Amino acid sequence: MDNPRIGILTISDRSARGERPDASGPVMRAFVEEHWSWVIAEVRIVPDERETIRATLIEWCDLLHLNLILTTGGTGFAPRDVTPEATRDVIERDAPGLAEAMRADSLKKTPHAMLSRAVCGLRGRTLIVNLPGSPKAVRENLETIAPALPHALDLLREASDSEAGHLRAA
Ligand code: MTE
Repeated sequence: MDNPRIGILTISDRSARGERPDASGPVMRAFVEEHWSWVIAEVRIVPDERETIRATLIEWCDLLHLNLILTTGGTGFAPRDVTPEATRDVIERDAPGLAEAMRADSLKKTPHAMLSRAVCGLRGRTLIVNLPGSPKAVRENLETIAPALPHALDLLREASDSEAGHLRAA
């Protein structure tokens, strides 16, 4: 199997307008590069607009067939925080265990973890994971889910291989 291909999506009005450098996207990239030999196929910054987020996720899942999309930002209570809604718009299956684990672990570090509405789920063979916006939160939450991510991607990719094997055998 080829190495998994992943997308890194920063969701922030100010970073999209160029008013604040994106600190969290680079943290996601560095974390992935430190841990796995996955291919970072897409990196993008978009504003907190539900429709833009939704369209980007669909493009990356359905056209590019990325194996994993990591988003950062827009999971809190501010009126413009709509990342979970856009993610729910596109996922076909929920993956609540990842979000539950992130919130449970993060609560040991800050009570503000309760304010993350992050959603994780699957569209086709793509896993989408919402992470909070701050670089510190990104790293802490990635540390929580890192032990489960390779197996998650194996499971999602396995089906295509076993189906291919099935076809070859037939
Ligand atoms: N989780 C961890 N591990 N560490 C953090 O510093 N920050 C919290 C929370 N989760 C945090 C965290 C804060 S302050 C908020 S408001 C929510 O994530 C949502 O963040 P977002 O609005 O930037 O997406």
